[in-house]
Amino acid sequence: KDKVTIHTMKRQKQGGQKICMVTAYDATFARILDEAGADMLLVGDSLGMVIQGHDSTLPVTMDQMVYHTAMVARGTKRALVVADLPFMSYQVSTQEAVRNAGRLVAEGNAGAVKLEGGAEFADVVSAIVRASIPVMGHLGLTPQSVHKMGGYVVQGRDEDAALKMIDDALALERAGCFALVLEGVPLDLGRQITQRLSIPTIGIGAGKHCDGQVLVCYDLLGMNPDFKPKFVKRFANLHGSISQAAETYFSEVRAGNFPDEEHSFKSKQPLRLMATQ
Ligand code: KIV
Ligand code: NA
Repeated sequence: KDKVTIHTMKRQKQGGQKICMVTAYDATFARILDEAGADMLLVGDSLGMVIQGHDSTLPVTMDQMVYHTAMVARGTKRALVVADLPFMSYQVSTQEAVRNAGRLVAEGNAGAVKLEGGAEFADVVSAIVRASIPVMGHLGLTPQSVHKMGGYVVQGRDEDAALKMIDDALALERAGCFALVLEGVPLDLGRQITQRLSIPTIGIGAGKHCDGQVLVCYDLLGMNPDFKPKFVKRFANLHGSISQAAETYFSEVRAGNFPDEEHSFKSKQPLRLMATQ
């Protein structure tokens, strides 16, 4: 299996082959998802919510992103590893943005980085691309702008907002993005942007017309029974499997049935009782 690169992405769009992306935050999940056939693994700053337990992605730091990216890269053989630039790592200055993107590649072993925002970040995108670091854009419901958006709400529902998003998408393509995440946008806007761009769109809550799809792995696996937004489909119920396994383990321990002989070690010869002084 050849390693996936940014060039694979473009061929997949041209050939009409859907691109499969999923988040991963550690080596064990990366190995499973890579072997299952992911084209891209996203080390998302969603880890602030699903790993760290925050209620937004805003507290995630560069050091934490580098740490998780390195773990995911170690577990990945085929997929392209894309790492999120976290809040405040690329907004202050273009210099800081390039340096931080460089850390995700040099220290974290990412093959590309992702950042949120439209035309206002075109300069930042081109500066990172100039440093030979592939950049993925991210438009629509951009969680780092939760306070500006006034919550996690679908974007681009009215004509003006839709037109602005199309302009932003074209600006990101011109700036050199190799792909674009569309999050929380109406189905028909997802289709329009996908048709207008030559780079692939990767949707999450953006409908079936996108060139690919991405989901947070813990969401598609059904790890959190209290989180069920409209765009998430649960392909498994790991919350149920994990709690059932843990309950069985605890009840066997309490009943004295675990560990049994099969899971215990034997001495080489019978131990003689030793007298203690
Ligand atoms: O952080 C993340 O998981 C993301 C995806 C939802 C696109 O940015
Ligand atoms: Na993200």
